[in-house]
Amino acid sequence: MSDRPDDRVVIFDTTLRDGEQSPGCSMNTDEKLRVAEALCDLGVDVIEAGFPIASPGDFDAVSQIAERFGDRATICGLARCRDGDIDAAINAVAKGERGRVHVFLATSAIHREHKLRMSTEQIVERAVASVQRAKEKVDDVEFSPEDAYRTERDFLCEVVEKAIDAGATTVNIPDTVGYATPQQYFDVIKMLKESVPNIDRAIISTHCHDDLGLAAANTLAGLEAGARQVECTINGIGERAGNAALEEIVMALKTRQDHFGLTTGINTRKLSPTSRLVGSVTGQGVPRNKAVVGRNAFAHASGIHQDGMLKNPATYEIMKPEDVGFIGTDLVLGKHSGRAAVKARLTELGYTPNDETFTEVFDRFIDLADRKKEVFDADLAALMEAKLSGA
Ligand code: KIV
Ligand code: ZN
Repeated sequence: MSDRPDDRVVIFDTTLRDGEQSPGCSMNTDEKLRVAEALCDLGVDVIEAGFPIASPGDFDAVSQIAERFGDRATICGLARCRDGDIDAAINAVAKGERGRVHVFLATSAIHREHKLRMSTEQIVERAVASVQRAKEKVDDVEFSPEDAYRTERDFLCEVVEKAIDAGATTVNIPDTVGYATPQQYFDVIKMLKESVPNIDRAIISTHCHDDLGLAAANTLAGLEAGARQVECTINGIGERAGNAALEEIVMALKTRQDHFGLTTGINTRKLSPTSRLVGSVTGQGVPRNKAVVGRNAFAHASGIHQDGMLKNPATYEIMKPEDVGFIGTDLVLGKHSGRAAVKARLTELGYTPNDETFTEVFDRFIDLADRKKEVFDADLAALMEAKLSGA
């Protein structure tokens, strides 16, 4: 067992593997290296850098990331439970100081019967042999029963127990299709903790997909039930609707430390720059309304909110923009803005109009705002200059 304190959550970032499996998000080696460096600066514990058997390019990317960054984070390669995959993953992470091999095999009835065409006995046998094969060369081995959430509970317990006996140091419990609710995901993690006799020899990990928009909530529920590793991606990119978003989980843990009592090694001030980098490298950008890192996360447009913000930012913000790497709050000037916000912006721009001048400029501002979605500083300055010059 590790000597990691029980309140410390391992952040396993899979932007470069599950994230890149998102349609339109694939990355070349140079792009992966840039993102890997940013992930190290951010302070993630594990970087799943790719799926080495998938292509020579992916092997090369994982290998270069292990060589360059393997002293700053554990570098992980994914493998199906096949000898060729496992050997490729072992070789790809070999150059790093800390390498991990992550083997996975589906366990749910639907995957067993329709995809793998394997019996439960064959699944257990293959999983055990694969973990053992990886373990011969790498100490740090993770096992994932793919589609764990939809797997019969007794069988899930059996596979997890045998994978740990075979040497898995982390057991990951994927909700591969994003089907669980938070309570249900909590229950499955709790059940594993209570029913698998050797569970304390491994770290339990969450891996939640966002098909129903519940990935972050399910991840947090998993932590509350005793998981201590979370698998997540920057901006929540990933297969279909994506994976649990790293920035949401980390900021939930930090903002609600009073509730969770858990810590991470993340430098949260790097969240927004890392998010922008991933948005630009993948060409997907960052959705404006994305929690924590979207442009609107710290922007206020309504007069009532702007007035509250000017009096005390805690009225409408539960996190400080600087804590996630934004320069500050953005009071967006538009037709919903009130006098207080417009006056404050004029002051910032160096104008101190008397009441009569301000009233007239404010009327012109409202007129302009009705025609324009957003009134920028330059527009406001132009209104003020026009008034001062008597126009
Ligand atoms: O969603 C999933 O089940 C996966 C596994 C490979 C861990 O991504
Ligand atoms: Zn996944």
